[in-house]
Amino acid sequence: MNKFQSKNERETFACGESFAQKLTGGEVLALVGDLGAGKTKFLQGLAKGLGVKHKVNSPTFNILKTYQAKKDSQIKTFCHIDAYRLSSDKDLIALGVEEYFQDKNTVTAIEWAEKVRGILPKKVIMIEIEYLDKENRIIKIKKVYN
Ligand SMILES: Nc1ncnc2c1ncn2[C@@H]1O[C@H](COP(=O)(O)OP(=O)(O)OP(=O)(O)O)[C@@H](O)[C@H]1O
Ligand SMILES: [Mg+2]
Repeated sequence: MNKFQSKNERETFACGESFAQKLTGGEVLALVGDLGAGKTKFLQGLAKGLGVKHKVNSPTFNILKTYQAKKDSQIKTFCHIDAYRLSSDKDLIALGVEEYFQDKNTVTAIEWAEKVRGILPKKVIMIEIEYLDKENRIIKIKKVYN
C-alpha cells in the first residue's frame, strides 16, 4: 500500500497526476472517501497526467463521462464515473461500464465505488481519501482482489 499526506488541494491534484504515470491501461480505480474528501480533485490531476485536455468535473448529472487521453499513448480513454446518485448496480451495467472495465486502452475511475461494489471487476486499485481537517487528507492507494 502507498500512503500519502496531502496538505492542500494542489498536493492532492499532484498526487493524482504522478499516479497516472504508473498506469498502463485497463486499470479500474475505485475511489472511496466522504463528500468533499478530494476524489474529484485527485482525478483532475490524474486526468492531466493521462494527457486529458478538457477539465474533469463531477459527472453528477450524467454519471459517466469519457475523455480522450493523450493521442500517442497506450491509454486512449479516461472514463470517469460518479456512483453517488446511483441506487442500483444495474444502472451502471446499463450504461455499458463493463466494456470500459475490460478495455486495455481505457483507465476507468469510479467515485463512491462502495455503492457499486457488486459489479466491480475482481482486480481494482482502491484509492481511499481520508478527511482529517479542512485541508489535510490522507490518501491510501492499494491493489485489491475481490
Ligand atoms: N488536501 C486537499 N485535497 C483535496 N481537496 C481539498 C484539500 N484541502 C481542501 N480541499 C477542498 O476540498 C474539496 C474537495 O472537493 P472534491 O470535489 O474533490 O471532493 P469529492 O471527494 O470529489 O466530493 P464528492 O463526494 O462531492 O464528489 C475542494 O473544495 C477542495 O478545494
Ligand atoms: Mg467528486
